[in-house]
Parts: sequence; structure tokens; C-alpha cells
Amino acid sequence: MCGIVGYIGKADAPSVLINGLRRLEYRGYDSAGVAVLDEGRLVIAKAPGKVAALNERARADWPAERFSKSTMGIAHTRWATHGPPTEVNAHPHLDQSGDVALVHNGIIENYRSLRARMESKGHHFYSETDTEVLAHLIGDCDKGDLFQAVCDALHQVEGTFGIAVLSAREPEKIITARRGSPIVIGVGDGETIIASDAAAILAHTQRVIYLDDNDIAIVTAESIDIRDLNNIPVTREIAELAYDAAAAEKGGFEHFMLKEIHEQPDALSNAIRGRLDFNLGSSVLAGMGTSPRELAELGRVVLVGCGTSLHAGLVGEYAFEDLADIEAEVQQAAEFRYRNPIIGSRDLVVAITQSGETADTLAAVREANQKGAFVMSLCNVVGSTIARETGRGVYLHAGPEISVASTKAFTCQVAVLLMMALKLGRGRRFSREDGRNFAREIESIPALVAKVLLQNERISEIAASYAHNEHAFFIGRGPMYPVALEGALKLKEISYIHAEGYHAAELKHGPIALLVEGTPIIALACDIPGKDKTLGNIEECRARGARILGIVTEGDLEAAECMDDYITIPRCHPLVATVPAVVALQLFSYHVARHRGCEIDQPRNLAKSVTVE
Ligand code: F6R
Repeated sequence: MCGIVGYIGKADAPSVLINGLRRLEYRGYDSAGVAVLDEGRLVIAKAPGKVAALNERARADWPAERFSKSTMGIAHTRWATHGPPTEVNAHPHLDQSGDVALVHNGIIENYRSLRARMESKGHHFYSETDTEVLAHLIGDCDKGDLFQAVCDALHQVEGTFGIAVLSAREPEKIITARRGSPIVIGVGDGETIIASDAAAILAHTQRVIYLDDNDIAIVTAESIDIRDLNNIPVTREIAELAYDAAAAEKGGFEHFMLKEIHEQPDALSNAIRGRLDFNLGSSVLAGMGTSPRELAELGRVVLVGCGTSLHAGLVGEYAFEDLADIEAEVQQAAEFRYRNPIIGSRDLVVAITQSGETADTLAAVREANQKGAFVMSLCNVVGSTIARETGRGVYLHAGPEISVASTKAFTCQVAVLLMMALKLGRGRRFSREDGRNFAREIESIPALVAKVLLQNERISEIAASYAHNEHAFFIGRGPMYPVALEGALKLKEISYIHAEGYHAAELKHGPIALLVEGTPIIALACDIPGKDKTLGNIEECRARGARILGIVTEGDLEAAECMDDYITIPRCHPLVATVPAVVALQLFSYHVARHRGCEIDQPRNLAKSVTVE
């Protein structure tokens, strides 16, 4: 949830570090800090607020030569867990001597007892953070060898960490380590970059090494020496990043969210390309690593995820039942391990996650593995913890998603789930012809989305007239029910309008009491089974003065006439229609938030990639 950057090389470290933080800011943005070595002395700048505030602070407080001469340092952008987002709680944190600086992602669970122990030795703490305790512990263990000190300290730590440490006493190296919180090392030409996310590395190199849990690396400008916490050398391969720095830029759009919404035809094409087999009427998802026999023997599909990824799972639930005649259920990843799920070897557990780092989803994967299930993941970030821990699954290939509000990852998740359902369906009830027909439907998804994007201007105008509202309801039936949930989530997270998603039939079991003159109802009223009943529910809302924005199928005048405003999606299979429908809602939410003047890419209190429970 926070972002780490470390740099050692030949360039101006303060600028490299601050620029790296800018690229990671979507991971957390309530405060930031940077520490560099300047002529052997450790100097730190911190600021509450965004990275821009840190940049201003460093440029105001530091002499210009520091920017041209310092060639190593570490930096951090924070999403507060222990203590509010103040300057003093911002990372980097120092040890008791003031020579050792640490940036940390994750949570040190036993920090209270460690802090008490340090205090009894006379250590003084300035912040409320668990990170400062780890900095002191490392300093306390340091008997002249920073690497050994970090190993010794980490042996005493319970919890999760991705860290970068530097010491004024050993100015030629940075130590970095991970357990449960990602660290990627960029292998440059005479420079090495450490980051919690490859986005901060792209400007320097596309050659990276992903650390595994309990790896610790001694990093210099020319070398990367990786060991385990018992000082045994380990080998990690260098990987090539599949995208370049331009993929993580706004590319002329006002916000990353708008860019990512518009990228969806391409992202979906990438997710689908080469994965449909029209000859067999099936899909080719090699990463699933399953034989037709194994698929045929599966008794159930359990989909786990959080937030938007959970909503994709809900669409998947309909797809698995409808196309593959297999029992499917969705479980919130945060509940999965606490409710002692009944899972066995005939269950396929699919972890759905854009980042591949979500703590609850990772814990669900581990629980499902414990129970002997067939576990796979559906991830966007290549090399992420969940992708590696499941070992099998399907990558989304959506490209980097920077906006905190997930858009293209959701639609690619749905597309991949539809392809998985098709594959299972062909082993069960689908004929080859049925399979081919559905494969053609999947193939058309990018073009369907492109047609919705053409309505951008009109959707912006409609959104302007809803932007003053403080409450909204989204309703849908069948596979459009999860789309209603996702629409409400998008609207609330970026516009701060209180929005609720309901099954269209549920409204009159309570929420309808909230309707007053003008309350917005955003109705998924596309021409799919159940539409007539949804139109009936809309009439119930209209009778109470609600204002209806409908998502309707092109040419469906009957539905359009029930609405005060409407956005159209092309006619297609009901499961496939979830994708263009959600894109219409993404654009609607985006424009509402823009008309309200919200900080769209970095909504209040949120961060991309939730690595705490
Ligand atoms: C909302 C959003 C979140 C994520 C959730 C899971 O727009 O992005 O709800 O979907 O935090 O994240 P991942 O998919 O990375 O596991």
C-alpha cells in the first residue's frame, strides 16, 4: 500500500527517488520522505501530503549541490497504518545512532514488545510507527556489518515487510529484503534501482529481479548479491518487463482513470488474443495447467477476491453455472480463512486480483492450498506474490493499471473468466457449435466496448446533471447485478457520492424507503432475461419520484422510454453484455467525479494494492 524506491548509481539520487515516488504515488499518498547520503552524511526530507509537497520541501531545504552530487538514497510514499500521516510518522525512519535509515512496507506485528525492549535499553522514539522500531532494532544489531544486522533484526520480527536500508557507516550499499510485501530490483547500467513496484524502475531499465519471501539482497551500483536470511546465497533470474515507461504515463488524458477506460479495447484484445480456439469451440488457457480430465472431475468453482475483483468473480459465478453447468460460488477473500470453508480436492479455487498482492486474497490462496484444493489465480501484475504462489492461472495482460479505481483490470477479469467458463463448458454441456458461438461473442468484446466509448461526450453531459446528488442507487438482475455493485463502488470511491448497488428486486425490501423526488436510480436494463421485471422495478421507483438513468440495449425503445436518461450498449450475449455495461458506468462515474472536482486518480483514504488485512 506504500511505495518504496531505492537508488544507487551515478545519477542525481534525490531527483531519481522523487520521480520514482511519483510513479508509485497511486500506492499510497498521505505523506512521503527521502533519505540520501551526501558526502557520507545521512540527510532526510519528509512532508505530509503528496510527493509534490516532498519535492517542494527537499528543493527548499536542501542545497542545490545535493541534487547534483548525491548518488544513493531511499524514499517512501505512505498509506498510514500506525499513526496519522504526519511528517514525523513519514518514512524514512532512523535508528538510535541516526546513521541507519529505513523505509518499510508491511506491518511489524510484534513492534510493541520490540519497542518496549529498545526503550528499556534507553532508545528514544519519535514516531508512532512500527517502522521506527525496526530501524532501531537494526541499529541495535549493527556490530559493524549492516547486512548481518538486518538479518539478525528480521529474525526477530513477526509480520510482513518489504524494506530498503542504508547506513552512513557503509555508504557503498543498500540492503533490501522482503517477506509478504514485494520488492523488485532493476538491473541498470552502472546503477541499481530498488522498488516495491516495477513502475518506478521502468524509466531506468526493463531488466528486473523479483525477490522471493525471506530473500535479502546487498545492492551496489554494479552488483546484486541475494541470500536468504541465514546468509545462504540464492539465485533469482533476471526478467524482462513486458511494457515500457510510456505505458505508465497519462498519454495526453487528463487522468489515468480516463486513459485506462479508453485503453480497454486494446487491453481486452490483449487478454483475449490467442486464447480462443474456434476449431474446438473452446479456449486455450495454458497457464491453468489442467488436463480435460481434471477439469471434468471438478465438482465446484470457488472464486475469491476483494472489491472490484470480487465483483468480477460474481459475474464469473453466473458464467460457470450458465456455460459449464458447474456449481460456482464467490467468497469474500477476507472471510475465506475465518469461516473455515468446506473445500476439497475437487474444488477449483480461483483467486482474482489485479495487483496479485492483496493481503486477504493471498491469505485465502494459502488457506485453499492447505485444504488441498486446486488453486489458481487470475492476476494482472506479472511476477506478483499471488501469481507466483499459486504457480498456475491466467494473466490478464491488461497493462499497468495506475488509477486507484480499477477499470480495465475488471473488464479483462470478466473476459478471462468467460474464457475459463467456456473451457469448462466444453468439457461438460457445450457442443462444439455452442462453444464456437460463445467464442465469437467473446471475440467481439473489444469492439462492443469501443462503441460505448464513442458516447463519452454524451455520458459527460448526462453525468453533469447528476453530479450534485449525494445519494444514488444502482440496480440490476442476473449478471447485471454484479455490474450494479461495481457501478456503485466506482461512483462512491471517486466522487464520494453515497452509492449502493442492489438486486433490482431487493429495492422494495427496504431501500425504497430512501427514495425521494429526484433520487438517482441507475438501472441496468439491458435486453437480457429478466429485463421486463427490471422495467417493472423501475416503474416502482418512478412512482416515488426517482430519476432514472438506464443502461439499455441499442434499439430497445421500450426500455429507453422508461428512462429519464439513457446510455446504450450494443446487443450481445447477456454475460458478454456485462463488459460494455460496466464501461458505460465507469465513464459515468468518472465524469460525475470530474464535474465535482474530485481527485480522481487518488481518491481520499484509498491506495492501490491493499497489502494489510
Ligand atoms: C476498486 C478497487 C479495489 C480493488 C481491491 C482488490 O476500484 O480497485 O476494490 O479491486 O482492492 O484489489 P486487487 O484486485 O489488486 O486484489
